[in-house]
Amino acid sequence: MNSVLKNKNIVVGITGSIAAYKAVEIIRLLRKKEAIIYPVMTRAATYFVHPLTFQTLSSQRVTRKMFKEEKKEIPHLSLAKLADLLLIAPATANIIGKIANGIADDILTTTVLATRAPVVIAPAMNYRMFRNPIFQTNMNKLKTFGFKFIGPEKGVLASGEAEIGRMVDPPRIVKYLEKVMNSLNDFQGKSFLITAGPTREPLDEVRFFSNYSSGKMGYALAEEGISRGAKIILISGPTFLTPPAKAEFYLVESAKDMEKKVMDNFSKVDGVFMVAAVADYRPEKRREGKIKKDSQKELTIKLVQNPDILKELGERKKDKILIGFCAEVENIEEEAKKKLKEKNLDLIVANDITLEGAGFEEETNIVTLIDKNGKIEYLAKRSKREIAVKIWDKVKNLLEKDIS
Ligand SMILES: Cc1cc2nc3c(=O)[nH]c(=O)nc-3n(C[C@H](O)[C@H](O)[C@H](O)COP(=O)(O)O)c2cc1C
Repeated sequence: MNSVLKNKNIVVGITGSIAAYKAVEIIRLLRKKEAIIYPVMTRAATYFVHPLTFQTLSSQRVTRKMFKEEKKEIPHLSLAKLADLLLIAPATANIIGKIANGIADDILTTTVLATRAPVVIAPAMNYRMFRNPIFQTNMNKLKTFGFKFIGPEKGVLASGEAEIGRMVDPPRIVKYLEKVMNSLNDFQGKSFLITAGPTREPLDEVRFFSNYSSGKMGYALAEEGISRGAKIILISGPTFLTPPAKAEFYLVESAKDMEKKVMDNFSKVDGVFMVAAVADYRPEKRREGKIKKDSQKELTIKLVQNPDILKELGERKKDKILIGFCAEVENIEEEAKKKLKEKNLDLIVANDITLEGAGFEEETNIVTLIDKNGKIEYLAKRSKREIAVKIWDKVKNLLEKDIS
């Protein structure tokens, strides 16, 4: 069977790590899959492997310089445009740091900044460099932007120590590239509605009740869905985030506004991710003007229940796929299972908001996925974008099972 990599243009960036010799094997394996390889080397990489090796293996000239007078095209832009996929293997701490900070001072970093293709990064470095919080911050920042990381893993490093930092072996990197390529347009032709952020329930003309939801999980799901070819309708409460340019975006305030927008759009989509932290209660009425403190010593506000949007969707869903999210503080699994059943969901994503690195304003999350067949999957701490990848993978599985 043909590989999904056949005839795909893959730019392979090689940087100044001792693991550069493994890039030789990666390119050999990719050529066996009939991919078209464009090697790009940093100056430091050329100290480790001679460009002639990559040139011979790929049957392409190795790009090393940004400024080449004899060439008509601008190399970084032509590479950025032609790439179906960009791999950096091995990736040094330096290149990751530069990309994370928008630096584009060589041909590789400039190509990365200019491309719209998915970028896969296979880091390799000493464990001290890997554990350095500066490196960790850079890596996590890139993960949040949707860069895909494979490894590093534990193994014997160049220093002789058995520690984390070793680049993943070439066959696994190639397999991962196939997975990324397969997932590129796996939601083409499908539409999903995603709700995100908090709601605001007005008390008077200047005050409201709300919650700590940042919207990050919902927006990460929207970004990931778009990158996989889905049409996304994003309905969000007020957040500080920038909505993805390709999403059909609606800003709403209260739970009732959100309910209306969701119901108006429900018939247009194949599924709904109900990520928003919708307020369960709202003040019975929004008072005119501003409640003055001198007028009364105590203030009693009557709250009434908001509509349960997820439940309503569950009642109407038919063959649409419905994904609920819950934030719990105890009996997570039990509570999540109960909600899954009560609201007729296909999948529930439960977070334990008491854990460090999980919950509302964090960049990371720790979640448990429970599907309608009772399958439970625990996802350890990772960026919200990586969690989004896993959730979409799970949705794909559920859709495929429903078809078969
Ligand atoms: C022998 C040797 C091995 C190195 N191995 C690594 C490595 O595995 N990972 C890393 O991040 N840096 C490593 N470095 C340091 C990088 O080469 C250095 O940071 C360089 O500036 C990277 O440039 P580049 O990212 O443009 O390729 C190594 C340096 C030497 C001399």
